[in-house]
Amino acid sequence: MKIQLLVLTFVIGALTSNASVADEQHHQHGLNIPAEIKPILTKEMLAIEKGMQELVSSIAKGEWDKTASIGKQIQASYILKQSLTAEQKQQLHHNLPEQFIRQDRAFHKYAGMLAHAAKAKNKDVINFYFYKMNESCNQCHSRYAQERFPGFVDPKEKHTEHKH
Ligand code: HEC
Repeated sequence: MKIQLLVLTFVIGALTSNASVADEQHHQHGLNIPAEIKPILTKEMLAIEKGMQELVSSIAKGEWDKTASIGKQIQASYILKQSLTAEQKQQLHHNLPEQFIRQDRAFHKYAGMLAHAAKAKNKDVINFYFYKMNESCNQCHSRYAQERFPGFVDPKEKHTEHKH
């Protein structure tokens, strides 16, 4: 557990400090994630999706302790937090655009804020951050996961569809 946390800190640190290395790719419709890392991302996404569904229920029912604990769980689960080999880390920081890392961090920050609001039993603030979390899914997917989720393809951007 401790080792995993250390690895997490290292990965996030490495990604952040080298974020400028990766160019902003404005019309990127997919991420260049190494094949062996993809399943980790998928697993993380499915966990987040499940967490969001549980939040709908717990918020609707006023179960604030549960809401806070789900929020905290999501906050702690940085995408790609799992232990990666040094080589994979190297690959990652060359592959993830700065904007992606920023959106990932913002998303997890909102989850933390939601947990905080749930502790204070502040419904309005909880709902606000739930909205922000949902918006984060949309923002990141519409930018980086259009292939997986074609619903985000903007008809006006069709000409860039096949650029990768
Ligand atoms: C910082 C970026 C980012 C954020 C934020 C984000 N996602 Fe994702 N998500 C991705 C990427 C990238 C993929 C993978 C696309 C692919 O497979 O090519 C993905 C894929 C998924 C998948 C599909 C997994 C599969 O079966 O392949 C689900 C479900 C998902 N996300 C749910 C969510 C939900 C729910 C949220 C918000 C609560 C969210 N994601 C927030 C980047 C993000």
